[in-house]
Amino acid sequence: MGLAPIVAACDAVVWPAELPPSRSELLAAVDGCVGILTLLTDQVDHELLDRAGPGLRVVSNYAVGYDNIDVGACARRGIAVGNTPGVLTETTADFAFALIMAAARRIPEAARYVRAGRWQTWGPLVLLGSDLHGATLGIVGLGRIGQAVARRARGFGMTILYSSPTPVDPSIETELGATYVALPDLLARSDFVSLHVNLGAGTRHLIDAAALARMKPTAILVNTARGAVIDPAALYAALKAGTIGAAALDVTDPEPIRMDDPLLELDNCLIVPHIASATRATRGRMAEMAAANLLAGIRGEPLPTPVEPPA
Ligand code: DGY
Repeated sequence: MGLAPIVAACDAVVWPAELPPSRSELLAAVDGCVGILTLLTDQVDHELLDRAGPGLRVVSNYAVGYDNIDVGACARRGIAVGNTPGVLTETTADFAFALIMAAARRIPEAARYVRAGRWQTWGPLVLLGSDLHGATLGIVGLGRIGQAVARRARGFGMTILYSSPTPVDPSIETELGATYVALPDLLARSDFVSLHVNLGAGTRHLIDAAALARMKPTAILVNTARGAVIDPAALYAALKAGTIGAAALDVTDPEPIRMDDPLLELDNCLIVPHIASATRATRGRMAEMAAANLLAGIRGEPLPTPVEPPA
């Protein structure tokens, strides 16, 4: 178990329940801690840092994303922040591709169709989907995971467009066969749009009503990044009106999605519970990395994988 080194080295309290601690339980638990290992469900802000007190040296997030942590506030207090980059790249890219394929070929819908007893015959028009081969994939954010998705898309014979704040190194573009375009262009030209950006002020509701209106009516939108990168009300309206063809979401805003969320009523919206990195091997490696960051921070050593504070 990845957390064993922590338990062996420290006087550690491990939250025992599957559901996260309430805010008051979390604040009580961090009181006086020298290190905290957080999940993406734990909000690390001024209030929590105050409560932990001046002895806190490190916050180690068990995730590559760290939008749950006020990294600037940690930096100003001299608290190191760590995350788990790299180990989940391929696993998350596999899953983004699984969502692309599931939505393109309507696999969850087809499985429901069989179980509902609707399979009467082979029919030329039954559950028609979209081809991946020959289609255009737009990757929003060509970081580690975006690049791993591009490598998979290449194998499927897709045309690859990407957008990002600045183009990547030309050698990477050549290796991936990916072409840099501005986001509006990417949205207009892509048959599939896959999101791979961090959540921050510049990417919250990046995919809003205006962005969705640029997309093809057959386009499929896939999100394995963070739920709030998409405006959920705008997405519902676009899926309902046929502005876009379908969506496949590993992440929602809020999480978990509320059971009365109208997105859950739509056959063309596939939603799964934030499991893109959920393989036994990857979650184990994430735990090992999170433990290594935590222990290094407690000892006052540089973290193996630190999050750089904002400039
Ligand atoms: C992350 O690491 O940021 C994922 O969302 C969960 O593995």
